Amino acid sequence: MEIFHISAECYPVAKVGGLADVVGALPKYQSNWGNQVRVVMPYYETKFRSENNFECVHWGTVKLGNFNFPFSVLKETTDKLGFELYLIEIPELFDRKDVYGYEDDIERFMSFQIATLDWIIGRATMPDVINCHDHHTGLIPFMMQHCHRYHKLLNVPSMITIHNGLYQGQFGFDRLHYFPDFDLTHVKLLEWDHQINSLAVGVKCASEVTTVSPSYLDEINYFANGLESLFNMVRYKSKGILNGIDAQVWDPEKDKMLEKNYSIQNFEKGKQQNKETLCTLFNLDPTKPLFSFIGRLFDEKGGDLLPQASALALSENFKEINILILGSGNTHIENQLNSLLADYKGNYNTFIGYNEELAHLIYAGADFLLMPSRVEPCGLNQMYALRYGTIPIVRRTGGLRDTVIDFGDDGNGICHDQSSVGDVCYSIQRAVGLYNDKEALNKIRKKGMNTDHSWEKASQEYIEMYNLILNKI
Ligand code: GLC
Repeated sequence: MEIFHISAECYPVAKVGGLADVVGALPKYQSNWGNQVRVVMPYYETKFRSENNFECVHWGTVKLGNFNFPFSVLKETTDKLGFELYLIEIPELFDRKDVYGYEDDIERFMSFQIATLDWIIGRATMPDVINCHDHHTGLIPFMMQHCHRYHKLLNVPSMITIHNGLYQGQFGFDRLHYFPDFDLTHVKLLEWDHQINSLAVGVKCASEVTTVSPSYLDEINYFANGLESLFNMVRYKSKGILNGIDAQVWDPEKDKMLEKNYSIQNFEKGKQQNKETLCTLFNLDPTKPLFSFIGRLFDEKGGDLLPQASALALSENFKEINILILGSGNTHIENQLNSLLADYKGNYNTFIGYNEELAHLIYAGADFLLMPSRVEPCGLNQMYALRYGTIPIVRRTGGLRDTVIDFGDDGNGICHDQSSVGDVCYSIQRAVGLYNDKEALNKIRKKGMNTDHSWEKASQEYIEMYNLILNKI
């Protein structure tokens, strides 16, 4: 089967969050099953761009209203990623360092989607299926079906995978003329709440909709930033497929970013060595339990709870625990976190920013990973933590609910229900108790390390979904 994944992010090319990890791993596993898998994404000004070789396989011009943007399609020439990578280079719009956050993001991603389809229809054969990811590619299923110039794709099934339903890519009808020609009787498909809503368009027009965990699929029927009723309406063509992790990249036995590799046989010693390195780097106490947070500092991830929860936990258990935060996002949260540095020196530290290497070292060296998310469509960090023998502390939501079970119920982690400082601190208290019972602690760590969260099974579920839609058409 020839599968196209179209996405704004893909690890290691460009990463902002978990979307990149999924699009960097799922295609690899799908290729292992004998499929021809291609990933298409924009060509940003990143390190990957300067360090790798590309050949130009196509060029053209995107017409967006009165603007014309020349573009080229560049194919990465080595086979090292495990799938074919194509980058759409639109110099005026994507010659920038960041993936998102520009005033013209609508123009950028609209052009990317048009250029991608223009290139695909010029190829000798049409793909068997097109898998779009999140709102940046949500207009594609509509254009495939209704824009005259893409009639060759009319019978190609499309799937949209929702990694985060909170972001929807809305814009006004004043930009309707950006779309290539289509029959205006279909204009209703573009509309949600008086605007063009890219995610809603994808959900309405794709042959199938997937979310990145089963529980998230249930939750978006009640909480989806205004799209709840739409998700209810399309339930008949939706499925929640739990993400996997790339077990080759995330392997404590082989991970080159660790101070010391370890396996389930010698994890105690291995983890301690990584912890000591971390503690030296961040001036923490290696004899005390180490709690960490890795991720984007936004309310959605419960980032706003961290400053107060850290202060409270550190003062109640002062000198009994360490907290290390790696992340960036909301500057108010960043400042609040940094304002605690002086008071809790020696037991608390932050790294504001993102650093992939440090993240790996933290998964290995930390004892507990905090994930107080309000919304978590899947969450990959808890799976990385489990694989590295680090115990996740999560709020029961979305994919966290599907992957972490409280140790009180013979599970692999620590869970609470409310997004509150009190709940986070209570879980930290329970974790300190567990830390002091080495036998119980190690039993849970081993359980986590033994669980297979790789893409092996989930990548097959995607193929089954594609087959289902192929048979329907
Ligand atoms: C988004 C979600 C996260 C999910 C990831 C990959 O970042 O917020 O929960 O794990 O996408 O699907």
